[in-house]
Amino acid sequence: MQETRIALRFVGKYDTASVSEYCALGGYGALRKALSMDKASLIGEVASSGLRGCGGAGFPTGRKWEMVSAAQGAQKYVVCNADEGEPATNKDRVIIAGDPHSLIEGMAIAGYAVGADMGYIYLRYEYPYLFPVLENAIADARNAGFLGSNIFGSGFSFDLKVVSGGGAYVCGEETALLESIEGKRGEPRFKPPYPGTEGLYGCPTLINNVETLVTVPSIVLNGGAWYASFGLGDHCGTKIFTLSGNLVNRGVFEYPRGTNLRQLIYEVGGGCPNGRQLLGVQTGGASGNIINGDMLDIPLDIDDCSAAGATFGAGDIMVFDDSKDVLEIVENLMEFFAHESCGKCTPCREGNARLLELIRKIRRGEGTMEDLDTLADLSETMMDCSLCGLGQASPSPVVSTLKNFRGAYLSMIEGGQR
Ligand SMILES: Cc1cc2nc3c(=O)[nH]c(=O)nc-3n(C[C@H](O)[C@H](O)[C@H](O)COP(=O)(O)O)c2cc1C
Ligand code: SF4
Repeated sequence: MQETRIALRFVGKYDTASVSEYCALGGYGALRKALSMDKASLIGEVASSGLRGCGGAGFPTGRKWEMVSAAQGAQKYVVCNADEGEPATNKDRVIIAGDPHSLIEGMAIAGYAVGADMGYIYLRYEYPYLFPVLENAIADARNAGFLGSNIFGSGFSFDLKVVSGGGAYVCGEETALLESIEGKRGEPRFKPPYPGTEGLYGCPTLINNVETLVTVPSIVLNGGAWYASFGLGDHCGTKIFTLSGNLVNRGVFEYPRGTNLRQLIYEVGGGCPNGRQLLGVQTGGASGNIINGDMLDIPLDIDDCSAAGATFGAGDIMVFDDSKDVLEIVENLMEFFAHESCGKCTPCREGNARLLELIRKIRRGEGTMEDLDTLADLSETMMDCSLCGLGQASPSPVVSTLKNFRGAYLSMIEGGQR
């Protein structure tokens, strides 16, 4: 299957230490064009492209830009979420390492659209080698006049700073991220107010993921309708998918939204190696649903995935072959969440620890049928009552395996074995 590279358009195509090589590919042409457009038309193109946030929640990008543009405030900010703490995702790392200038260009365009003159890139703490890549690219862009005051003589000024992530999964949640930039402990805020009206230092703030922002220059150059046309059926545009786990081919691939999951796993991923059969797939990251091999005919986009009982998230697809124990996978995931819960709210702080305890009890062969009911009830409470997306979504591996792999639980309870 031929890839459709839009977010990944220039990855590996130029020397990231050379802004002139980026310009030779047409780089910063989209910023020049954007600055000649009125802000409403620019935001209109982003809205008509159908681009949706690539960080996990899938919020329509054009609508978010409109809201921040309309928000009242003398000072506004653009923040790029490059925290990428999701265990099965590494697309943002690939983009930044191979094409930092498209991110800078996308952020400057976003700044112009919403009325911000300053932007921050919140970069994952565990990517130390990417700090100099970004900082050098920002300095080169500034020296070339693509950042700083009065860009292209347009009267628009914009600058960027890279901020180190806090080293915790929850710091990728947009309000915890803002707390962290402000130098506080990275804990989520109560919402509303949303960052679009009251974000960084209380000012209206646009927060977008790396992949979302690097897609913008192509939309500006070619138009919203051009971008939308790449989606299959009624889907718009493309998405980067991270394929990992028991696959012959793993990595980061960009395909049209609406691509069939089974096709992606077998035609791109090459299926499971060593003649193994597929046991299950976790889609949408560590807090995504785990589906079984009968459920793979899903067009990959946000609404289709949720309708089919899968999760879209940031486009992560982790495949498990039949040598794996699904309850061991769930235990591993719940260990992660019990460790990463920031502890601010009770349902998540206590709930993840309790889910982990129960899964371990079942795996030891000491579980009862009542434990299965407790797992389901507790998960529901956490999903309904947790303060942020971490606790709201972390029970998904439990809930989905109780449904899609019930036999694995029952055999441990009835026979004390897998
Ligand atoms: C626990 C948690 C972790 C998150 N981590 C990330 C992350 O690493 N990167 C990201 O872009 N979004 C992450 N998000 C989603 C952000 O809160 C936010 O929706 C996103 O950055 C908005 O950008 P987008 O509209 O371009 O997707 C996370 C959300 C939660 C609840
Ligand atoms: S849901 Fe979890 S991570 Fe989010 S605020 Fe509550 S305790 Fe913290």
